[in-house]
Amino acid sequence: TVLSIIVTIAAYLVGSLSFAVIVSKLMGLNDPRTYGSGNPGATNVLRSGSKAAAILTLLLDAVKGWLPVALVHWFGGPHGLEEGTIAAVGLAAFLGHLWPVFFKFKGGKGVATAAGVLIGISGWLGLATLASWLIIAVFFRYSSLASLVAAVFAPFFYVLGGGVAWVMDARIGVSIAIMSGLLVWRHKENIGRLLAGKESKIGSKKKV
Ligand code: G3P
Repeated sequence: TVLSIIVTIAAYLVGSLSFAVIVSKLMGLNDPRTYGSGNPGATNVLRSGSKAAAILTLLLDAVKGWLPVALVHWFGGPHGLEEGTIAAVGLAAFLGHLWPVFFKFKGGKGVATAAGVLIGISGWLGLATLASWLIIAVFFRYSSLASLVAAVFAPFFYVLGGGVAWVMDARIGVSIAIMSGLLVWRHKENIGRLLAGKESKIGSKKKV
């Protein structure tokens, strides 16, 4: 429907707000695209030394994934918006983060935004995925490795949980799988560094 297309475009625009860049600018910090991994994301903003800026980036990048999905969940039904639109807006917000129209299409890797989308789809799905991220992050101290493992697990969590905790929808499943695939691909340099033992650990300001 037309409404479904409009909300999907709106989700892409919201996703295009690169909060790593916006928050850093507002807080008078260096542009995250100029140091560390050069990635506009919470992990790299942490390398600026400002925990507050990193947490704010993480929250806002997650909210921009969560909000479009939650809004369709809450208010979409009476307007004929259902699972297909949820799948579309979640993916659109994620794609906005990776290829932001406001930042010359040079965006981030999508970890926080994907987490927000998953939480919007199902609190349990979000929780399970965040838990897998946290376990790897605590044990190995690599943000990228934790993100990669969580991304690989997310589609399986969705399918596994489908029978118990929520209604399985193929379109949402495909959206999650596409997000995971793109997220892994965006980490190709991280994967190289991990294999070479050169990836920087969480909290370390070492240049990567
Ligand atoms: O948020 C992306 C994270 O998984 C890796 O970030 O800056 O270490 O490439 P970074």
